[in-house]
Amino acid sequence: MNSEGYLLDTSSAILSSTRTYPTSEDSSDTGTVKPAGQSPATQLRRRGFEGTRMVNWSQESILVTGGTGSFGKKFVEIMLRNYQPQRLVVFSRDELKQHEMRASGFDHPSLRYFIGDVRDVERLKRALAGVTVVVHAAALKQVPACEYNPFEAIQTNIMGGRNVIDAALDQGVRRILALSTDKAVNPINLYGATKLCAEKVFVQANAYAGASNTRFSCARYGNVVGSRGSVIPVFLEQRRRGKITITDPRMTRFWLTLEQGVKFVVHCLEQMHGGEIFVPKIPSMRLLDLAETIAPGCQVEYIGIRPGEKLHEVLVSEDESRQTLETDDMYVIQPSHPWWKSENWVNAKPLPEGFRYSSDGNERWLTRRELEELVAPETSAAEALPTSA
Ligand SMILES: NC(=O)c1ccc[n+]([C@@H]2O[C@H](COP(=O)([O-])OP(=O)(O)OC[C@H]3O[C@@H](n4cnc5c(N)ncnc54)[C@H](OP(=O)(O)O)[C@@H]3O)[C@@H](O)[C@H]2O)c1
Repeated sequence: MNSEGYLLDTSSAILSSTRTYPTSEDSSDTGTVKPAGQSPATQLRRRGFEGTRMVNWSQESILVTGGTGSFGKKFVEIMLRNYQPQRLVVFSRDELKQHEMRASGFDHPSLRYFIGDVRDVERLKRALAGVTVVVHAAALKQVPACEYNPFEAIQTNIMGGRNVIDAALDQGVRRILALSTDKAVNPINLYGATKLCAEKVFVQANAYAGASNTRFSCARYGNVVGSRGSVIPVFLEQRRRGKITITDPRMTRFWLTLEQGVKFVVHCLEQMHGGEIFVPKIPSMRLLDLAETIAPGCQVEYIGIRPGEKLHEVLVSEDESRQTLETDDMYVIQPSHPWWKSENWVNAKPLPEGFRYSSDGNERWLTRRELEELVAPETSAAEALPTSA
């Protein structure tokens, strides 16, 4: 793990990159020594970043739906720190969350706070006027809440996605990246099923875009450490009471940090042709190892797997792997639609027959030390809180 807390292979330039890629007209800020006669695009392709289409972030006007959520706040922080876009719009419903975000220091001249609901297409159209890049993060994502309120999940996660697409097409947005989850793969709960539908809708939106420059892709990844609803705060609270509950000792999950998630999204936005579902190569961990790291020696009770929960998650299924390509850092699931150009990712490799990217079959596992480093910030934050009576 490096100083920025990445768990991924540090040889990966992609997820640790913080620099602004220049436009093809501006090659002065690549941060690298450019071999004579090679354009930045050629250099990037030579490093295996086939499909790179330059983004000059300082010229972009970006909108993030769900900008007050865990992902959204980290995205805004990193964008303002490393990329300085012309305008950055936070789009979400709750004025209090927006007020708290601003009050906590997210108060920058290029930042705008828009109250709006992704269920309201007219509001989205207004918000997307002049916007060039959209990251669609707004969602209902708690499995039990989606299960109990299925039409609410459908309205936000599927119909909301459709509204983002319609508004983006009408306003001529160039790049739209929708966030998805491993739970969308062979889903067994409604949350996952809505995200699967959303993926399909975003991929096929490229067909509606026709000859226009609007392009849609998805980024699909696993559990995010430190996001709202993550298991770590639950374990920390249980540790106070002296007993940790685990559904099944065999349970495994993919893990990444919020920062990795954001950097992956930025990377996908720079790479996308439109139609890809991007999956990062990320490590796995056993829930039991996490519990033992957070609460060593604490009593553990096994409560059995819950409805809608899987023992292991899958990020690329065997069926999807036939149309999936691999680069050093990620998998690229290509659409099977006729409009997709097979030469889009010529430098990426096909996967072996029968390949499946699952949290139990992963080659990369978090070591105990990496787990300790991962939970340290949350543990110290929890220890700073007063003990509940
Ligand atoms: N966290 C994970 O482990 C994980 C893993 C894989 C993928 N993802 C995906 O990543 C995305 C972001 O997750 P997160 O952890 O940042 O979620 P989060 O912390 O729960 O944030 C959700 C955001 O969406 C907004 N929102 C909800 N309903 C909305 C609506 N109808 N219209 C507009 N905004 C709405 C919320 O603000 P308001 O309530 O104020 O509207 C909030 O800003 C989601 O799409 C999720 O499916 C998350």
